[in-house]
Amino acid sequence: MAFTPQFLDEIRARVPLSDVIGRRVRLIRKGREHSALCPFHNEKTPSFTVSDDKGFFHCFGCGAHGDVIGFVMRDEGLAFPEAVEKLAGEAGLEVPKETPRDRARAEEQLSLYAVMEVAAKFFESELGADSGAAAGAYLKGRGLKGETIKGFRLGYAPDSKSALKSALIGKNISPAMLVTAGLLIEPEGGGAVYDRFRNRVMFPIQDRRGRVIAFGGRALGEAQAKYLNSPETPVFHKGTVLYGMHLARGAARKSGRIIAVEGYMDVIALHQGGLVETVAPLGTALTELQMEEMWRLVDAPILCFDGDNAGRKAAARAGERALPRLKSGKSLLFASLPMGQDPDSLIGEGGKAAIEEVLAGAEPLSEQIWKLAGGGGDLATPESRAALNRRLNLYLEQIPDDDLKFYFRRHYKNRLFEPFVKSHLKRGPRLEPRRRPRDDEKLLPQHGLGKRGEGNSARRERTILQTILNFPALLIEFHEEIERLPLLAARYRAFRDALLAADVDGIALDKSKISYVLTQAGLEKLLDELVGGDAAYLDWAAKADAASLDDARVQLRHALDLHHRLIDMEKFRREAEDALAGDMSEENLQRLMESGRAVNESPGTEVQIPGYGENDNTESGRS
Ligand code: UTP
Ligand code: MN
Repeated sequence: MAFTPQFLDEIRARVPLSDVIGRRVRLIRKGREHSALCPFHNEKTPSFTVSDDKGFFHCFGCGAHGDVIGFVMRDEGLAFPEAVEKLAGEAGLEVPKETPRDRARAEEQLSLYAVMEVAAKFFESELGADSGAAAGAYLKGRGLKGETIKGFRLGYAPDSKSALKSALIGKNISPAMLVTAGLLIEPEGGGAVYDRFRNRVMFPIQDRRGRVIAFGGRALGEAQAKYLNSPETPVFHKGTVLYGMHLARGAARKSGRIIAVEGYMDVIALHQGGLVETVAPLGTALTELQMEEMWRLVDAPILCFDGDNAGRKAAARAGERALPRLKSGKSLLFASLPMGQDPDSLIGEGGKAAIEEVLAGAEPLSEQIWKLAGGGGDLATPESRAALNRRLNLYLEQIPDDDLKFYFRRHYKNRLFEPFVKSHLKRGPRLEPRRRPRDDEKLLPQHGLGKRGEGNSARRERTILQTILNFPALLIEFHEEIERLPLLAARYRAFRDALLAADVDGIALDKSKISYVLTQAGLEKLLDELVGGDAAYLDWAAKADAASLDDARVQLRHALDLHHRLIDMEKFRREAEDALAGDMSEENLQRLMESGRAVNESPGTEVQIPGYGENDNTESGRS
């Protein structure tokens, strides 16, 4: 059985390779790729790499290579159609049964691409012709440079019912084909077919491989519908395409960000202004498939919609739609433009800097949902908070990933209780107001009510890292446990992951190797802070020149045990909070306070050495 290339692409797009392979072998994240021990040959050090971006795996050891379908075939010994059907089932896709008609359709699609290409060339050349002078002046008037017009292949559809028709029929393309391509309209009551696009500036819509699959046509005057788009055709499905993606992909990978705007002109203006990682849906709300396409490139696409009510509504809808598709590590950011501006007008007025400023202020999805649920309103009474809590829960229920749901819930609990705790516990002896979470922590469990910035957990996490940095042998020994260790400080998590990646490289691990790997990962600042000349130590046994390997091992064991205990206490506190959320009684409030105190007073390290760590200022020097 043959499947259409579109269907196979759809499968590859919907089922991330790392998900499938991750079920079979343990994957270790390394930048944009993963590595693992090769499942297809015996090895002790990993030479198997997986790239979601590129959509393939490769083993440098045995040469095994392929895409997600190839992996399933090899791994489960399935034939191609069986593997395709299995993956389609997982992706919730219906497997098209191939019939002679399907084969005819596949051929038709191939010729449709060719027809669209000829049409694009026709429109481009018309823009350069005399009749296209007004359209050219219009585009220049909107600030587009010649090279931008060429790059986006903008064109002009003449003001005639038969210009395209006669030009393309002259090239032996049948009228029926042009109707299927959406370029000609067949009158319902019969009669001659005629050009769909007339007297419009033409924006070719290209798929991710750059093939022209549709057009958007903008009226020159303001009289008719401003934009006219191609209808759905065998090669054009509006909800699956992002305008500008073929150009934006590479840039998005490089910069690690992608920006979704509303309109064609926004995409073009931002590209011209240097923000090539910009795409747009085609006049509809962002669909789940479009979000997934962006998530394959970056973790948190930034939505930068028009600064009007329609734009804000569209952003809100995108947020709601994203929830059921949310996976750990994937999210959205929401940038809001000044009222009345769109990205095109803003970059025209304030240049790239103005857009960068708006992007820098983008808010996380959690904030968007909080606002949607009415979190901006009055939270003075327990009833209002309980009602907000219920509305938030309606949103949270839609998140399928339990881990992620948990962190969202935690985040909102904290916010719900912030004003409450402040007003009721003002005179509470030890509870200090929680510091504002940093961006990278917003969705992570908020740990204890810390003393002077750094909580005990962070102090202990620091000691753990210092110990393994100074005694790399312990990293190898405790690899598994350190890998599973919940670290509350986001900066330490990234650091730990880089360390572990160094360990699995299999090259003898020593300090110079560690410092090389961490420097490569851009973590040298934190490395210096932890074990550089001025580093503050909370425990002597973490210091290379003060302790023996045996001392350090004992100390590390202690620190790990204490850390696990703290995590348990945190859990207790969380339960206390949940109880309070359900029933805002004095008794439950008491319970929360006690659990908070327990967390706060848990020992930072077993052995406190005077002089160590007294003056540590951990708020500064974040990398
Ligand atoms: P906008 O009206 O914001 O368009 O619609 P724009 O891109 O800023 O265009 P200019 O600057 O006025 O020329 C945003 C998008 O919505 C779709 C188009 O995809 C457009 O780019 N749209 C808009 C339509 O499909 N039809 C319309 O009539 C209007
Ligand atoms: Mn606009």
